[in-house]
Amino acid sequence: MTYSPSIDFPAEVNWAAFVRNGGIAEDRLVGSRGETELPHDQSLFVTRPALPPLHELMPLLEDIWSSRVLSNDGKYHEAFERELASYLQVPHVVLVSNATLGLLLALRDSGMRGKVLTTPFSFVGTSHALTFAGLDPVFVDIDADTLNIDPVRLEEAMDETITGILPVHCFGRSCDVDSIAVIADRHRVPVVYDAAHAFGVCDEGGSILRHGDYAVLSFHATKVFNTFEGGAVICRSEESKRSIDLLRKFGIVDETHVELTGLNAKLNEFQCALGCVQLRHVDDYIYRRGQIDARYRQLIAEIPGLRMLAPASGGKRNHYSFPILVEPGYPLSRDALMHKLRAHGVVARKYFSPLISDLPMYRDRPSAAAHNLPVAQRISSSILCLPMFPDLSEQDQQRVISLLHH
Ligand SMILES: Cc1ncc(COP(=O)(O)O)c(C=O)c1O
Repeated sequence: MTYSPSIDFPAEVNWAAFVRNGGIAEDRLVGSRGETELPHDQSLFVTRPALPPLHELMPLLEDIWSSRVLSNDGKYHEAFERELASYLQVPHVVLVSNATLGLLLALRDSGMRGKVLTTPFSFVGTSHALTFAGLDPVFVDIDADTLNIDPVRLEEAMDETITGILPVHCFGRSCDVDSIAVIADRHRVPVVYDAAHAFGVCDEGGSILRHGDYAVLSFHATKVFNTFEGGAVICRSEESKRSIDLLRKFGIVDETHVELTGLNAKLNEFQCALGCVQLRHVDDYIYRRGQIDARYRQLIAEIPGLRMLAPASGGKRNHYSFPILVEPGYPLSRDALMHKLRAHGVVARKYFSPLISDLPMYRDRPSAAAHNLPVAQRISSSILCLPMFPDLSEQDQQRVISLLHH
């Protein structure tokens, strides 16, 4: 049987120009930075993956093709892991095939058993990782300014049955890491940070990934830094790096020794090569996100009823998301505004609504009750994330702003 592709490849592609333009067809290019402007009949999504010029990747792909080393820790794996640790300024990095598996490995290595305190205001993968690891999520309310787990509520929820903490640096904004460390130390429980949104974020002391026993990054297509899919676990010690390293490759030490019960969470050579190339560009991606963030702040400040989160103070931000809160002073409800935007081709998203704690598999537990999570409930019913990605043109951003005016 011959294979016939079910995808329609474009019949007439000028491949030389396509490669030169970093995978963007010539007729879609606007401006000197390769900025793209979407035609007005085309939807503007909340995010759009950032990709490097394809021609920078091609020599690495040719090398992989000729070497036939595709996975299991080849030279691009070695290079990406080393360059990533150097970029992030953290000593112990393990590459994994996505953040969900990274969380599973970190949770397993942390020794948590039973109940774990976590936030309901996150992507569902955060709690699913706990459940899949055989742990029991207990929801704690969030802080209205950071949208991260509230340390006061965290301390209140602590008792002798709690075996760990899984906070999230939501939208790349740092948790109150110092208070969380004090609580964790006092109760002698490990902390695994879900840092899926937090690539490149620093506080005054350096990368926020140095906090906790483990921090887990996602390199999913929608993130600030992507390898299509992928992730990394940042470990506090050489010892935990070694065990996460073994856990991600079935626990295999060598041909005759299997030391741990692991699984397959390896990142392949293609993705590692892409990661090396993406690292050359990520500062530019973050810089462009910063410019978009500044423009939104200036223009939305004039619109009554729309509130923005205060910019995080100190260190380096990554501008992963641009959430707004639709407050009672605004003439439309959050959902009505979202539908108005969609009717005009702007696909803003309600991150995170519903709350994880309101999903069928979690809503019956006592900690999921609405009265236990009043801040998360309020934020979840008023939040809307606007388009935010490095090649969002000024014109397209202006289009979003015009629609927010009433
Ligand atoms: C907060 C959070 N945690 C975990 C994940 C899962 O990441 P991955 O898709 O790399 O498994 C995501 C993904 O979007 C996320 O936003």
